[in-house]
Amino acid sequence: MTTTVRTRVAIVGAGPAGLLLSHLLADAGIDSIILDRRGRDEIESTIRAGILEQETVRVLSETGASDRVLTVGNRHDGIELHFEGEGHRIDFPSLTGRSVWLYPQHEALKDLIAARLAAGQDLRFETEVTGVGDVESDRPWVSATSADGTEVRIEAEFVVGADGSRSVVRPAVTGSSSGGYFREYPFAWFGILCEAPPSSHELIYSNSPDGFALISQRSATVQRMYFQCDPEADPDAVSEAEIWATLQARVPGTALTEGPIFQREVLRFRSFVAHELRHGRAVLVGDAAHTVPPTGAKGMNLAVADVVLLDQALRALLLENDTRLIDAFADTALRRIWKAQHFSWWMTSMLHTASDASAFDQRRQVGELRSVVESEAGRTFLAEAYTGWPHQSSDR
Ligand code: PHB
Repeated sequence: MTTTVRTRVAIVGAGPAGLLLSHLLADAGIDSIILDRRGRDEIESTIRAGILEQETVRVLSETGASDRVLTVGNRHDGIELHFEGEGHRIDFPSLTGRSVWLYPQHEALKDLIAARLAAGQDLRFETEVTGVGDVESDRPWVSATSADGTEVRIEAEFVVGADGSRSVVRPAVTGSSSGGYFREYPFAWFGILCEAPPSSHELIYSNSPDGFALISQRSATVQRMYFQCDPEADPDAVSEAEIWATLQARVPGTALTEGPIFQREVLRFRSFVAHELRHGRAVLVGDAAHTVPPTGAKGMNLAVADVVLLDQALRALLLENDTRLIDAFADTALRRIWKAQHFSWWMTSMLHTASDASAFDQRRQVGELRSVVESEAGRTFLAEAYTGWPHQSSDR
């Protein structure tokens, strides 16, 4: 038995992109159904990055998607770039007039899920998409199986793939599950969460001869730290003492406050942009469309920028039958996506140590870091990208 339901927009994926899109569309009276194969608990407890651009925070707070971002989140006015044993601060407000906020992604997800459920959103967890079709027509559909085995067919006017890097909607847009531009990196991050007070009041991005380290935060009592490791590393094969020794050695001059490590993982990353972002009445946003290495802190921010554009395009299409914005969507979104790809690749290459790096490569890298920190133009370039370029507004 298959139940058929109708909605205007079928959204696959209850991550930041899918949830925020449904929230923005609802404000324009456009109803949607969100499906996610994961359960609510899994979504709300998956640990992801935590830096939000000023524009991301504005969208979340002004639209009522999250009030807590301003109260629970912390504004950060700079970062420290650390190399050759010295820290160099990049001061965001004086260079760009902007700041960033540290607010873990799963907190933003809790806010969004609560806001959508309170507004009566049809949000179906543990529902696995089994097919997407007729995207070249005005009546595309998504078929899915819910946790209790019920088959459902959602008939919509538009389908959105906001379902992450292993997107099941992607083949309906690009013609294959992997179709895209990508780049692999020969390293990964060893990430930990520990119970300790912050070791530094701002984030430290450190380049050291032994490899990269990032000292981030979660709260007054929980800290997030990473160090560059082999992608094949086994997170459980390292003792706490070894983890602290590695981290300490990579930020010479800063004494890290140690504490019990209660979560550890090896995070692989790559750069990816799908060959197509839209095909007929199906579109990809967020990680389904692109993934970036975490060094630039761009992941969730890019997803939000995609969704702000898509919301405008879907309002024009579905409320006024105006196709201009949806026709321009991919090109407009890709301009920002490729800038963010460049920035994320650049931060990654400038700060990590390749295992085959020559003495020339290492000295050149320090020369590059000096070119950035010793020049106002260099610091401004980094600060503009890190705090986020202004959101594009679509020309109509
Ligand atoms: C984090 O806090 O998890 C984090 C912060 C900045 C990054 C990446 C991850 O660039």
